[in-house]
Amino acid sequence: MSENIIYRSSNIEDLSKILTLKKKLYEEGYAGVPDAQEAISFVADMYQQYYVDGNCVHYLAESNNGEIVSCAGAFSTKMVHIPHLVGLISDVYTMPQHRNQGLATKLIKSCVDWLKQRVNVVYIYPSQSSKSIFERLEFKSSALMYRIL
Ligand SMILES: CC(C)(COP(=O)(O)OP(=O)(O)OC[C@H]1O[C@@H](n2cnc3c(N)ncnc32)[C@H](O)[C@@H]1OP(=O)(O)O)[C@@H](O)C(=O)NCCC(=O)NCCS
Repeated sequence: MSENIIYRSSNIEDLSKILTLKKKLYEEGYAGVPDAQEAISFVADMYQQYYVDGNCVHYLAESNNGEIVSCAGAFSTKMVHIPHLVGLISDVYTMPQHRNQGLATKLIKSCVDWLKQRVNVVYIYPSQSSKSIFERLEFKSSALMYRIL
């Protein structure tokens, strides 16, 4: 596709469009979430607060007509078992017709650069289709254990 793509970081006004892409991510089966709309409602207020506090940014790829066609989010956050802030990458999604052109890779790299200024470790829960992207960007697998309750 010879279309021009514009890359930029997000601001709080982009949040509703970002959440629309996040909903599509869940609808494609990410994390086995059964109700995408419920999942979006669950995080919407939380995301507002992350933006207000400056602990989150999304990197966006926009097409000619101003549509956001790919996004990736970086969060600086707490985990109860780690005594310092850690990084999370989330909301990695590319619209189907824009895939395999390097958009997600570029946006994830921007997330990593943003996080490098703030934390010294970054976590991601990859999907099957994103795993190889993260491996190429030197992400390692960890031995996370879980039990369904
Ligand atoms: C996973 C996903 C985000 C990847 O988005 P994308 O923009 O297509 O990602 P990229 O283009 O950077 O990389 C995808 C593949 O295209 C390849 N690629 C990159 N640039 C390319 C180019 N110019 N030409 C051809 N292929 C290219 C990459 O090497 C990669 O190959 P791989 O799958 O063998 O590793 C997208 O498929 C998606 O939204 N999937 C559904 C939701 C999902 O799983 N999200 C991830 C949650 S962690």
